[in-house]
Amino acid sequence: MTVVQPFLRIHNLSKTYPGVEALKGVSFDICRGHVHALVGENGAGKSTLIKILAGAVLPEHGSEVRIDGKAYKPQNPADALKASVSTIYQNMNLMPDRTIMFNILLGKEPAHSGLIDFSVMREKTQAVLETLNASYLDPDRVVGSLKIGEKQVVEIAKALINKSKFLIMDEPTAALNQAEAEALFKNIRSLRESGVTILYVSHRLDEIFDLADTVTVLRDGHHISTRPIGEVTRSGLVEEMIGRKLSSIFPDKTNHPGEEILRVEGLNSGKHLRNISFSLHRGEVLAVAGLSGSGKADLGKALFGALPLDAGSLWVNGRVYHPSPSDAFKNQIIFLPEDRKADGVIQELSIRRNLALSVLHTQVADKLGILNTKKENKVAQKQIKALEIKTPSMEQKVSNLSGGNQQKVALGRCLAVDPEIFILMEPTQGIDVGVKFEIYQFILQQAAEDRAIVLISSELPEILGLADRILVMNEGRITAELSAEKTSQEEILQYALGESE
Ligand SMILES: Nc1ncnc2c1ncn2[C@@H]1O[C@H](COP(=O)(O)OP(=O)(O)OP(=O)(O)O)[C@@H](O)[C@H]1O
Ligand SMILES: [Mg+2]
Repeated sequence: MTVVQPFLRIHNLSKTYPGVEALKGVSFDICRGHVHALVGENGAGKSTLIKILAGAVLPEHGSEVRIDGKAYKPQNPADALKASVSTIYQNMNLMPDRTIMFNILLGKEPAHSGLIDFSVMREKTQAVLETLNASYLDPDRVVGSLKIGEKQVVEIAKALINKSKFLIMDEPTAALNQAEAEALFKNIRSLRESGVTILYVSHRLDEIFDLADTVTVLRDGHHISTRPIGEVTRSGLVEEMIGRKLSSIFPDKTNHPGEEILRVEGLNSGKHLRNISFSLHRGEVLAVAGLSGSGKADLGKALFGALPLDAGSLWVNGRVYHPSPSDAFKNQIIFLPEDRKADGVIQELSIRRNLALSVLHTQVADKLGILNTKKENKVAQKQIKALEIKTPSMEQKVSNLSGGNQQKVALGRCLAVDPEIFILMEPTQGIDVGVKFEIYQFILQQAAEDRAIVLISSELPEILGLADRILVMNEGRITAELSAEKTSQEEILQYALGESE
């Protein structure tokens, strides 16, 4: 009998950070030419495992990784590249001020007598972009001007040029819209066909069932299971991930939209927003849907004063509202920004301070402005518990948290304020299924208590599961206003693509 050797063998992989055992003796195999999915709750250890394979983090003594039977011990990212292992992190590593071809051929620039041969460079870039069905990308374009999905294509092209036999992707679709994600899946499938092995991390289970051949579950740093995708069910997978049963994806709705709380008329901002008018009611979840670039993110920013307006009027409870962070604060409007790494948290501060940041003056300081640590602890403790933020201590720097736990801190910071109106941009981006449910429950609970929510989201199931009404945007305009009960994903997409009601 011949035993088929696995492509990659992970044996007894461990990693400890101060106060956290991120990986505890994890062992499993990855088959050649498979899309191998890696799933688990926020903080389960997925990114840590990936960083070890990518040479960015060193594992504990006694850990072992083999590729094609040979010991694989990258000491740094360059070692990994030499072994034909490429990693696409969520925050990508491209140089924004250089062109596509420079990024793709970095360190491999074709040259004659010391001079770079630009025409060969262009040709090579064109050829690799063609294999990715992306010949529409001009090799001379500067990467900083690309959309996020296009940047991903450039990252994959880089991996192809590197002749990678193993490609690792950490939540590649977290910031992509549906069309971009589908283009990515096509590329992943054709890479698999050409024999590339792929390790794929995602919180979107639909994708896992769509793409993966095999799936590994990690929980709290432990290996729970590795199985062919055909042998797992969605609910079984979720149960393994979170260690308990999850009966449904969305909580029951008990909110009843009432009187108007926010009114928006004729908002205009360059090409971003064109003649936007709508009203928001107490007890209502109003969703805004649209592809990336549709203006839905700009609308969120405009409501908070983060986008200059050419025209438009707003009222909160019948009083004129001039969008600005300070007027928003006065009117009890809170904003969860889309780019949480940059705008939502302060990486170098503790979890405690981040969670209390928006309420330092109102809930934490005494009359003289002196901070009361006990009160600050209480504010932080409440959110850590409510959002199940995984950390050994609230003194931990946010930069040391897992991606999803950083998201939770950004959200917790908003929730601490106790606002009347929430403007939430992509509130569950990068958040695991268990906590997603908690966040949905929180949103519906706020609505049931007569607060109002503007939910700006790229996830249509989430929109349909939570919203009362849906505004669909395309090219800065509202193309439809739909009742969530009477519409479907297909109809929303139709309007998102530009059809008018
Ligand atoms: N540099 C670090 N210092 C201290 N602790 C860390 C560091 N990096 C990760 N951790 C901890 O290790 C654990 C695993 O984190 P990891 O980033 O691997 O999780 P993950 O499965 O990728 O989660 P997510 O889905 O949220 O991205 C977490 O508890 C995290 O807080
Ligand atoms: Mg991660």
